[in-house]
Amino acid sequence: MTAFASPRPSAYAPYAPPCAPSGRVTAVPSLLDPGVERDPHPLYRTLRGNFPLVYDEPFGAWLISRYADVRAALADPRLVAPEPGPGLAPARREDGTHGAYRALVSGAIGDRASAALAAGVERTAYVLARRLASRQEADLVAEFCQWLPAAAAVAALGLPYEDTARVHAWCRTGLDHLGCHRPGLDAYLHPHIVRRRAHPGDDLLSELCAARPGGRPLPDEAVTDLAATVLGAAGETTARALASFLASLLDHPRQLDLIRARPELTGGAWAESLRRDPPLQIVPRRALEPIGPIPEGATVACLLGAAGRDPARFTDPDRYDAFRSDPGELAYGSGRHSCPGAPLARLTAEGGLRALLTVLPDLRRAPGPRPRPEGLISRSPRTLPVCPR
Ligand code: HEM
Repeated sequence: MTAFASPRPSAYAPYAPPCAPSGRVTAVPSLLDPGVERDPHPLYRTLRGNFPLVYDEPFGAWLISRYADVRAALADPRLVAPEPGPGLAPARREDGTHGAYRALVSGAIGDRASAALAAGVERTAYVLARRLASRQEADLVAEFCQWLPAAAAVAALGLPYEDTARVHAWCRTGLDHLGCHRPGLDAYLHPHIVRRRAHPGDDLLSELCAARPGGRPLPDEAVTDLAATVLGAAGETTARALASFLASLLDHPRQLDLIRARPELTGGAWAESLRRDPPLQIVPRRALEPIGPIPEGATVACLLGAAGRDPARFTDPDRYDAFRSDPGELAYGSGRHSCPGAPLARLTAEGGLRALLTVLPDLRRAPGPRPRPEGLISRSPRTLPVCPR
């Protein structure tokens, strides 16, 4: 059996709970223990150090926490993405169509539509930043981070710019990263899909309508599912990542000044934030066969948040260092399911920061307590009070 690549003893080694010096078995910690949602990092340290592969009974999953093991697990063909439920995007299906859907999303986001996307992000970022320019105080999460990714998704799909507020409302109230969506979205998208089928443009919705995976066009329902994935991922996950990114930069004004002087460093600063504070802390998998102590059919939780701060991989892992010499993140996953939306998210972050630094040169944290990140699975600060001028 191949083990997860790990410089330390493999996580696939048969699991036995470590014993305390007295001989008593040490209690296995759980993601559901009190205080973990408020700050999971003490638990992550214990897991990486003492329980690299452990069954968390209250949580109902095997936990994997070391960087090398998480990376290997995400790419392991014996561990598959959980079965999508009704309404979940076809991009997740393990039925042979998965690769074709991924290629569609990646192609449309990565290459062909990127100029239109960049323009859409840029326009919204400046509009949002200018709205803050005359204010003494503002909340960057509610007034910037949550809006910009929704606008980026609208631009990616080629939907009307004026519909951004409507799409933003859907993103906020019911779409998750993989596109569980509300019925209202189907009714909204239907006329756009009909129009794209008759008159294709160069946007992502047109790509989906024109696609013929397996020689047959995608039904409207599949196009809607994929569009919902884009909206869900952009609306929620990118918004959270943007909140953590801006919070880290505002907490490190000297690093921010360097990026202001050399904007080409923004990409590295964004990747560093995703390493230290990934918006999705946990990626689930299901075991197709027994793997070491993991039984067939069991759920495995790959802890991206723990992996990103593994001291065996990163020097001084808790520190935010936009210029670190040992970069690397797993925030987008790894392997066949890794996130195809990464270029769109990065473009959103770069465009957003550029607009803020240009329009609000004196932007800084508001005085008072700093809101902490919250959430066990999706994690980010829920507010970010700033002084725009
Ligand atoms: C900072 C922002 C984002 C982060 C951190 C992120 C993270 C992730 C992660 C961790 C996964 C699961 C990978 C796995 O199961 O191995 C994923 C999957 C996915 N993401 Fe994202 N994502 C982001 C933005 C986006 C955007 C903007 C889109 C829009 C197109 C998107 C579309 C998708 C899709 C379609 C999948 C499913 C891929 C598959 O199963 O093959 N994501 N993302």
